[in-house]
Amino acid sequence: MFEDMPESRAREILLGLVDEYWQRFHAHAPKDGRIDYAGRVYDSAEMRLLADSALDFWLTSGKYTQLFESGLAKFLGARYCSFVNSGSSANLLAFMSLTSPLLKERRIMPGDEVITVAACFPTTVAPIVQYGAVPVFIDITLPQYNMNVDALEGALSKKTKAVMAAHTLGNPFDLAAVLRFCRKNNLWLIEDNCDALGTEVSIDGKWVKSGSVGDIGTSSFYPPHHITTGEGGAVYTSNPLLHKIIRSLRDWGRDCTCLPGQDNRCGRRFDGQFGTLPRGYDHKYVYSHFGYNLKATDMQAAIGVAQLEKLPGFILRRRENFDKLTELLSPYSDRLILPQPCPDSRPSWFGFLITCAPGVDRNAVTAQLEADGVQTRTLFAGNILRHPCAEGVRCRVFGGLDNTDTVLRQSFWVGVYPGLTGLQLEKIAASIVRALEKSKT
Ligand SMILES: Cc1ncc(COP(=O)(O)O)c(C=O)c1O
Repeated sequence: MFEDMPESRAREILLGLVDEYWQRFHAHAPKDGRIDYAGRVYDSAEMRLLADSALDFWLTSGKYTQLFESGLAKFLGARYCSFVNSGSSANLLAFMSLTSPLLKERRIMPGDEVITVAACFPTTVAPIVQYGAVPVFIDITLPQYNMNVDALEGALSKKTKAVMAAHTLGNPFDLAAVLRFCRKNNLWLIEDNCDALGTEVSIDGKWVKSGSVGDIGTSSFYPPHHITTGEGGAVYTSNPLLHKIIRSLRDWGRDCTCLPGQDNRCGRRFDGQFGTLPRGYDHKYVYSHFGYNLKATDMQAAIGVAQLEKLPGFILRRRENFDKLTELLSPYSDRLILPQPCPDSRPSWFGFLITCAPGVDRNAVTAQLEADGVQTRTLFAGNILRHPCAEGVRCRVFGGLDNTDTVLRQSFWVGVYPGLTGLQLEKIAASIVRALEKSKT
């Protein structure tokens, strides 16, 4: 078929077939009637770029990775972005970068403290524990579900080096207050932005994207997230030194900044002096950190490039869906505590988080929803300290975790993702109302 044909023409034919394949087998794929809390939203553009990247067969990070990284950095208003293989890897990398000897006296050392919350996704806290630093847990406020900034001063100690927490389901924590606290006390700030891509906050009268305010931000592109690359994540910063450390730790810990397939980018591959290595030791194999390989593939990045184009539309849909659920459920606010955006923010919602008022059985409500075919989720760990993984872990709690425990027992969330229709949102609300009616009798 491809005989005597230039490669570009052969590729055009194959990619044209991918379009047709999507149209025939994906565009109108039958659904099982279940209302998911999240899902991939894509069309032939994603499949086409994925196939294009597969035909390149470069496999590791390459041209699509660079496009995705620069596109995401631009969207966020961050100077640098590094694509990685998951949001958990992004958190690991963000935290580990703050332990680099290159940061001198500001580096986080084992035994140093990091302020965070227990109403969390586990891999926001895991890197702190795994490194031997000490998480200090403060409570959250309801119904914002983010750290109570009034507790920050009390949680501070001589050992505090950083604040690291997520913007809960798209709702940002009070970034202006946390930033002020961090600057005043010379602390690092890591924003786990995995569930909040596109959220905006007003800082000093200027609207900026969450994830770009602190020293480092992280994203996840696992399928339920705002955009997907299958598996995937990102770490972003505007600090050149942190960026250098992040790249080193992501790419095996090496000192060299050559891209995959590149040699001698710096032009000094064989004439540097590093540590006590012999002069001129091959720079490609000089290690400034004990690092990892957390890179993702170019095929994942290719999907991300197409998803980025759709991101502004996705964010709008998420906001509309959130508003619709608020409208439908407001009449029941005596029995359901509905979510509220943090002041001075425009959240890019990940989900619609509800807390059942005292006397309403959360498990009965979610059982009804699931029986009606509506997928529900808890706020991840609820309270991470009550999980088996926390047993024996060195940590500190400041000021009690009452609201965190309320979330553990009484909260659940449903979806607002762009794939939901108006009718599906009505069905979600109707199912919740049915559960409330039943719980009355
Ligand atoms: C707040 C938060 N942080 C980190 C992660 C981890 O992301 P990943 O599943 O890509 O490892 C998630 C996952 O959903 C998350 O919700």
